[in-house]
Amino acid sequence: MSVTIDDPNEGARVLAEMVTAAETVVVFTGAGISTESGIPDFRGPNGLWKKIEPIYYDEFVTSETARLADWKRRFTFRDQIARVEPNLAHLAIARLVARGKVNAVITQNIDGLHARAGVPDERLIEIHGNATYATCLDCGERHELDAAEAAILATGRSPRCGCGGLVKAAVISFGQAMPTREMERAEQAIQEADLFVAVGSSLTVQPAATLPMIAKYDGARLVIVNGEETPLDGLADRVLRGSIGTVFSAL
Ligand code: APR
Ligand code: ZN
Repeated sequence: MSVTIDDPNEGARVLAEMVTAAETVVVFTGAGISTESGIPDFRGPNGLWKKIEPIYYDEFVTSETARLADWKRRFTFRDQIARVEPNLAHLAIARLVARGKVNAVITQNIDGLHARAGVPDERLIEIHGNATYATCLDCGERHELDAAEAAILATGRSPRCGCGGLVKAAVISFGQAMPTREMERAEQAIQEADLFVAVGSSLTVQPAATLPMIAKYDGARLVIVNGEETPLDGLADRVLRGSIGTVFSAL
């Protein structure tokens, strides 16, 4: 039976109590955890998809115009994340990882803020990739964003890898296959958890939004921390409304 707590201060108490009582916690995050750092989310009140359209993977692969538009967004985002810091919720989660209470942070976010808050690679699962670097779509070689920007400035064309392959920011775009290794790591972490905390996600994008369901069916308690309703609220043991920063303030 799902219980919703609207007062974020009461939510903070409940979250601290449930985390303390749990053996192993998985934290699953979405763009909502980074808005209090100054990065807009996608579907919240002033979400990005309310202003621009996403660029789909097959558009990127087939259209030079789409590739150049995608690169422009990546450089803007790079400059944006350079100006922001991890916030109180990122730091609280990193502390729980350091204490061994959280065995994995599964994030849909590509802003790198969990890593900057101190979550080590072996505990961080970036299922939608990472926007701080690029890779070749053919051979997987890593490429730096600044080099891509210099190449576009010099040639007016989107960058290619030495092998001839297309170079793309290391993020999973709509229509792109999910990273198998990360999804396996996520499912492994979920099996070990007795508490799954979904933070700042509208839980509307698949297959990411199946992970809280798998956790629940695997017997974990499910807490959703989010300012707005999600399709999984009915499945959750607790739904904690209000600002994520406030709800995490007691951790
Ligand atoms: N406190 C509480 N809730 C918040 C806050 C906040 N400070 N800021 C935003 N939210 C909530 C919004 O109300 C919204 O429901 O966080 C949620 C963010 O949802 P989305 O914008 O849909 O972000 P996310 O769920 O991460 O999107 C999933 O979709 O666009 C793709 O690949 C992209 O990873 C992204 C995926
Ligand atoms: Zn290559």
